[in-house]
Amino acid sequence: MSVTDQAFVTLATNDIYCQGALVLGQSLRRHRLTRKLVVLITPQVSSLLRVILSKVFDEVIEVNLIDSADYIHLAFLRRPELGLTLTKLHCWTLTHYSKCVFLDADTLVLSNVDELFDRGEFSAAPDPGWPDCFNSGVFVFQPSLHTHKLLLQHAMEHGSFDGADQGLLNSFFRNWSTADIHKHLPFIYNLSSNTMYTYSPAFKQFGSSAKVVHFLGSTKPWNYKYNPQSGSVLEQGSASSSQHQAVFLHLWWTIYQNNVLPLYKSAQAGKAHASPGHRMIDCPEIETPAVITCDPLSQPSPQLADFTETETTLQPANKVESVPSEETFEPSQELPAETIRDPSLQDALEVDLAVSVSQISIKEKVKELSPEEERRKWEEGRIDYMGKDAFARIQEKLDRFLQ
Ligand code: UDP
Ligand code: GLC
Ligand code: MN
Repeated sequence: MSVTDQAFVTLATNDIYCQGALVLGQSLRRHRLTRKLVVLITPQVSSLLRVILSKVFDEVIEVNLIDSADYIHLAFLRRPELGLTLTKLHCWTLTHYSKCVFLDADTLVLSNVDELFDRGEFSAAPDPGWPDCFNSGVFVFQPSLHTHKLLLQHAMEHGSFDGADQGLLNSFFRNWSTADIHKHLPFIYNLSSNTMYTYSPAFKQFGSSAKVVHFLGSTKPWNYKYNPQSGSVLEQGSASSSQHQAVFLHLWWTIYQNNVLPLYKSAQAGKAHASPGHRMIDCPEIETPAVITCDPLSQPSPQLADFTETETTLQPANKVESVPSEETFEPSQELPAETIRDPSLQDALEVDLAVSVSQISIKEKVKELSPEEERRKWEEGRIDYMGKDAFARIQEKLDRFLQ
């Protein structure tokens, strides 16, 4: 049954968050999608990413960027970059839909969640940091220009206590925590990956029923290193992810490899046929990183540390079709039994193991360019999003500079 007047909506204001939006969109498509898929983008998103988004989303809608520029509150939140999440408010303008579910671009859907459309505005799950507030990474809303106007007015008059959308929405829908329990979404619809550290027994007990996982916080799945040969993920820097989170990171990266990177390939093919004069931004070459053997889901090993050094140009894999069928593999002994009861988690694990034995061939390309050439490439929009120009690398440089 397809419902054309309801939609899942996400937001991406730049090409980096587009990677998250693409994985989210594909994760929704894996589970019998019955609603429309919409992504809101801002002018900063490149033409290449627009083309790729349009292969996954039914609608790619450009909206204006709204930034709170409220650096004082954002400093409290320790997330100076989040002022522009106020752009999320534009989702209320989607009045050709009667009801929508908003999902942050850093969420991942693990099973069909159509029942969310049975809820009314404004439904959301508690925020793990302050459960009397809701988390604005997943919510049910009803598009309305009137509500949109009231929200913008509220922002102008009262600001936002966290400098971003969650503070604003919590003060706007202020009776959420007491008025109607049906508007409290269960935590399994917005399982923040970092809370698994703080309440592990609950995760063991209920984690297998998770339906939407949210990679809340400053480290996103795309900030991890991924080794397609072993299926291992390793955080940039020193810290490692918890074993629970690792399962979801594996799933994110598996979808990225299998369902997102091939879209770059076909967009590249399209580029070859693009009419002269229509310049498109270079997309990543289809390459794979160095082979390093390590245990899936293990803590960082010396081999992985080496891998971090060499794998600076993590690029799309061109051998996804060589991944053996899932049935060939047993679930890992390393995961708690509760975790693998969920078929989608099992999926993740099996695909992970499949990737680890599928000797994906390797070719690392490190092209040395002069600073002038680098600058020209950047200015022409030929940006190596997945390699040395990746957000994480730029952040590293900024961190070094700020020290
Ligand atoms: N977002 C974006 N560009 C940014 C920052 C955020 O498009 O530079 C969007 C994206 O949909 C993202 C959401 O706003 O998922 C909220 O930001 P984020 O998920 O980083 O916040 P967190 O959930 O970690 O607090
Ligand atoms: C949160 C939410 C996110 C929101 C941010 C800023 O933690 O997960 O969706 O954009 O706070 O308010
Ligand atoms: Mn988020």
